[in-house]
Amino acid sequence: MNEDKIARHFRALTNALHESAPDVRDRVRDALDRQLAAPGLATAFIANSFSTEATLHAGGRYLVQRLRHRDLATAHVMKTVQLSCRDDGISAALLLREAEMAMRVQNPYVVPIQTVLRLDDGRPAMIMPDRGLPLATALPSLKMTSGFLRCFAAALLEGLAGIHAQGIVHCDIAPDNLLLRNGDPANLGICDFGIALDAGERHADHNLARAGRASYAAPEQLRGEALDARADLHAAGKVIERLLPGVTDKGMQDLCESLTQERREERLATASEALRHLGRLPSP
Ligand SMILES: Nc1ncnc2c1ncn2[C@@H]1O[C@H](COP(=O)(O)OP(=O)(O)O)[C@@H](O)[C@H]1O
Ligand SMILES: [Mg+2]
Repeated sequence: MNEDKIARHFRALTNALHESAPDVRDRVRDALDRQLAAPGLATAFIANSFSTEATLHAGGRYLVQRLRHRDLATAHVMKTVQLSCRDDGISAALLLREAEMAMRVQNPYVVPIQTVLRLDDGRPAMIMPDRGLPLATALPSLKMTSGFLRCFAAALLEGLAGIHAQGIVHCDIAPDNLLLRNGDPANLGICDFGIALDAGERHADHNLARAGRASYAAPEQLRGEALDARADLHAAGKVIERLLPGVTDKGMQDLCESLTQERREERLATASEALRHLGRLPSP
């Protein structure tokens, strides 16, 4: 069918729908959506409510996709188990554990889990709001200033204070797990509770081999020891340190140093203490 013909039919359909009852419009839209999403495949939608827009990340174990809610038009992100791991009970259990950990935290700087559901093929999936690009991706286009740095540090420490208040250590604070909506540091969203622990636990207690990334994780974490909030403060200091080059801010440099001490006894002890320290810094 050529484009003119499609346009004529579409106009006629639109006119007819304008005069029809809302439920008819909804049913027609549903049928059109299904045909466009996957001709001949009736189950192209997730929970009959979300369409898939893009794959954001396909790691070894997990698949992360951007979704659109069909009725609300809102943007969401789904994290599920890779198809290749569909029958692997450990992957499914780890995803559910991650969702449970994240759901304990309610903080404006932590990405909320909106729901957990089962896909038609049985894989568990968690749904979150789309919170923008990870710092790792946004970094090259960000104009780094001392104002940005201080705002980012405050949001990160506030988020950590919220996580630690639930007795959780995130254990994977790194630029790809810190999302920024519109590159705005005040819109920070901490995500990925994949290797989070309850304070006092070691990763080996959960058979979690991956203990964090060498460039950010605290020495005690890399040694596989029992962890507390100070492990996250170390990683936060390392992330902030990455943003420092090009910015002259002695106060922030000193704060980073206090956060990234090798021995945890010598670090600032809590996120709240670090926040107070940040609040008292003289103007750069
Ligand atoms: N809520 C979200 N909003 C926007 N992007 C997200 C969201 N959650 C995850 N992502 C993207 O997907 C990537 C992988 O998600 P993550 O939970 O960190 O998985 P993994 O455990 O494989 O590292 C993130 O680095 C980010 O780019
Ligand atoms: Mg991650």
